Parts: sequence; structure tokens; C-alpha cells
Amino acid sequence: MARVLVTRRLPPGGLDPLVDAGHELLQPDDEQTFPHDELVHMAPEVDAIVCLLTDRIDADVLAAGAPRLKVVANVAVGYDNVDLDAAAVHDVLVCNTPGVLDETTADLAFLLILAAARRAWEAESDLRAGKWPGWDIDQYLGRDVHGAVLGVVGFGRIGQAVGRRAAGFGMEVLHHTSRDTGLPGWRGDLDRLLAESDIVTLHVPLTDNTRHLIDARRLRLMKRDAVLVNTSRGPVVDEEALADALEEGAIFAAGLDVYEREPEVHPRLLASPRAVLLPHIGSASVATRTRMAQVAAECVRAVLAGEEPKYVVQPTREEPS
Ligand code: DGY
Repeated sequence: MARVLVTRRLPPGGLDPLVDAGHELLQPDDEQTFPHDELVHMAPEVDAIVCLLTDRIDADVLAAGAPRLKVVANVAVGYDNVDLDAAAVHDVLVCNTPGVLDETTADLAFLLILAAARRAWEAESDLRAGKWPGWDIDQYLGRDVHGAVLGVVGFGRIGQAVGRRAAGFGMEVLHHTSRDTGLPGWRGDLDRLLAESDIVTLHVPLTDNTRHLIDARRLRLMKRDAVLVNTSRGPVVDEEALADALEEGAIFAAGLDVYEREPEVHPRLLASPRAVLLPHIGSASVATRTRMAQVAAECVRAVLAGEEPKYVVQPTREEPS
């Protein structure tokens, strides 16, 4: 029997693989997560950690955990909260949860595409505030989604799932990855994809290469009636530059689920009627969050049993899952 630190209470059934295997679970008593200094404090006493994307699993935690700590499983597909170099130094495997959240996250990306393009939030807010005077010919005119050109940046599982949805809307789908996918619509040049697309949706992991991938210069390459959607990681977009672009009408609208400094949201984005803003709920369905927890727990169970876990993060991988 091993000891597993679980940083947050997880959906019912989420930890079944570990419970069934008879491992001891250390969890917080309430709905809070353990603060970082407590993680450092507890790490030496555990064989595994199941954590969330909001937990900073840095060199301090990993060094404290060595040599007992064997595996860290992030209940997320993204893993920019885990210091992979330090994990390698201390021989800790890092696992994530790709695959189970693709369709749920793609649904949400499409929700943002539709809501931003059709100004749904702006119109609904006016209606709720009693500011709707009744139907008029030129109210809340948006841009069409059907028939538009969709530019998918990062064409891993989630990007492809968004592309499949776009087919139902009669959209032409372009995609950008650094390596040639050999598929129709591939654009090796991101600038070209941005200039050609009516709607751009981001599905890249956060790395040194993708931080501020969409900056002031690239926003200016987009069409003036273009929509930008981000469900990947906030720092992929320069929020200051995006706020400028929206205020100046350099692009039509944006739909965001992620932010540079969560839970803070840039005040000029909060004030922008052309920004649809959601609180990082891409994978937030009951079924998907339960499956994510189970996948992470199963990876930990496997490592503790001396088996190969299903998902191990490859530090060199550039493209998203
Ligand atoms: C992830 O898994 O990385 C998402 O951001 C949370 O679902």
C-alpha cells in the first residue's frame, strides 16, 4: 500500500482506481486545495501526487519529494504547472489526462466561436439589464459562422475535434502546426493562416515558444471582422494587445476561456462588449471531469504497481494533445 497526496477533493468515483487498489489517500478536509508550502511539507511523505492545473508542482515540491515520490499526475491535459526538468532530475514521472476531454473542450470552443461571432453575450446582457427596446433591423449585427474560414492553431486532438464541428457549419478549415500534417488546409506559416482566417481558435500548449504567440503584430494580421477564440492557456495571447485590438476594432470579437493571470482578468477585457469571457470551464462537464480524475488516478495506480502508465508527458513534445 502506498500513500498518495490528492491536492483537492475530486468528483465522486474519480479516485476509484486508487481506492480499489487499497492505497492511502491524503486529501484536504474541505473544498480547498493545499497551499504550496504544505505541498512542499507533505511531499517527502508520499509516493505519488494527484494534482490540479492550479497547483504549482515546481522544483521545491519535486526536490522535497525525492527520492520517495515516484509520480505526479495532473488532472488536466495541460501541464505547464509542473516543472518537467525538475521532475526528470528527481526521476519523477509526470502524467496528464489527454483524450478524455477533447470533445467537451471542443464543444466549449464552438460555444465561444458562436457567442463571440453573433455578439450573444452583449445582446443577452442588454436584455437582462432591461436595455432592449425591441427588435430592430440593425441590432447586434454579428458575423456569420457558417461558411466562414476557420483557422485552427495547433491541430492535436482538441483542435481536430473543433475542426470536425466546423464541417457541420460548412466552414473551410485551415490548420497551423510547425510540422507538416500532410492534411488539406495545413499552413506552416502562422501569419498566413491568421491573414486567411475569419475565425481563429487556439489549441497549443503553453511553452516558451507559444507564450504571447498571438501578440500585437499578429493581431494586426487578422481580418478586421475576424474572431479570436482561446481555450488553451491564457499566456498564449498578449491580453494587453488583445484589449487594444478590440477597442480599436482591429478584430471583430474574442471569446476567451483562459487568462494570463487567472483568476484575474484584464480590466479592459472585462469592460469590452466584444469579449465573451468564461472562467476556464473548457472541460467542465460532470462526466468529463470524473473521467479526467479517473485517468490521473489510473496512471498513478499503474506506476505504483510497476506498470507503464497510459499517459506520460514527453518533455520534448511541441504539439498539443
Ligand atoms: C486542461 O485539461 O488542461 C484544461 O485546461 C482543464 O480542463
